Amino acid sequence: MNPQNIILSRDLENDLKKIVVSCPHDRLFVLTDRTTREQCWPLIRDFAFLKEAHEITIGATDEHKNLDALAHVWTELSCHGGTRHSLLINLGGGMVTDLGGFAASTFKRGISYVNIPTTLLAMVDASVGGKTGINFNGLKNEIGVFNSAYAVLLHTEFLKTLDDGNIRSGYAEMLKHGLISRIEEWAELMNFDLQHIDYGHLQRLVAASVAIKERIVQEDPLEKGIRKALNLGHTAGHALESLAMAEGRTVLHGYAVAWGLVCELYLSNRRTGFPTDTLRQTVQFIKDHYGVFPFDCRQYERLYEYMTHDKKNASGIINFTLLGHVGDIRINQHADKKEIFEMLDFYREVMGC
Ligand code: GLY
Repeated sequence: MNPQNIILSRDLENDLKKIVVSCPHDRLFVLTDRTTREQCWPLIRDFAFLKEAHEITIGATDEHKNLDALAHVWTELSCHGGTRHSLLINLGGGMVTDLGGFAASTFKRGISYVNIPTTLLAMVDASVGGKTGINFNGLKNEIGVFNSAYAVLLHTEFLKTLDDGNIRSGYAEMLKHGLISRIEEWAELMNFDLQHIDYGHLQRLVAASVAIKERIVQEDPLEKGIRKALNLGHTAGHALESLAMAEGRTVLHGYAVAWGLVCELYLSNRRTGFPTDTLRQTVQFIKDHYGVFPFDCRQYERLYEYMTHDKKNASGIINFTLLGHVGDIRINQHADKKEIFEMLDFYREVMGC
């Protein structure tokens, strides 16, 4: 996979123009969803170099990250002169960058694409690292390929209009990046004021967070080893997210990751010696900023089942990424059912549910 060109943009028009000019193409396409078409496309559609671009819009939210929306994008590319030399710009959150990246990677055996993520979650995670795909057969990201964007343009001005929930959702992935990086990064994230956001400071934190992810992806683009570090908090987090969805109390992805971090840092404390004090401080931060997702012991079996079926596992063994301390990554850690139930006990006790 090619290294990604990640640009922290202060001047969207100039930076995007440079990218578009440097990537030879015949036809230009822009993919939005219904939300970014309304809120973000007007900010760029009058750029002279986008005048001839054909705009494609799909439904917003994860439920549209499906085969129908993908077919719609392929159809638009095909019916509006798309060739192997066309360029697709994805303007949106992780749903748009994932689906658009996959549409581009498969159309005519692959055309170039550029990501302009508009949510914090997409800036620090989804749009970087070349994971593309769609949900299929009731399973998240079941179909997809690794293929990096020609460029990723991070324009943090978009964050100023993002709602508080989506800021916190993306921030959970940043906290995860801090935990797998260095104590200084973790400490800075723990001290950031999410109630009264200093956007200049947030921009610097975003740049640092993306650099952490990018370093890991460069080392292991296809997730054979160290990239699994990025799954910290996600084994338990995905199970909580699936439970929430099944019970009709859907939560934002990053919130589930934050609660998953509570679980997996406990497991790290028990299994790999993660310091109790760092665990306590991180749990308090998560409790204060993400609240609590309540469940009781009758849901343990179901949560365990969800963890068993996580596609990152091999042969039914539940695979965790744990930490010895901040930055000391231990991939491929296994826990048995008893330990997992204890982990869920800890979550309920410490979160007060
Ligand atoms: N979202 C985790 C990864 O890109 O590997």
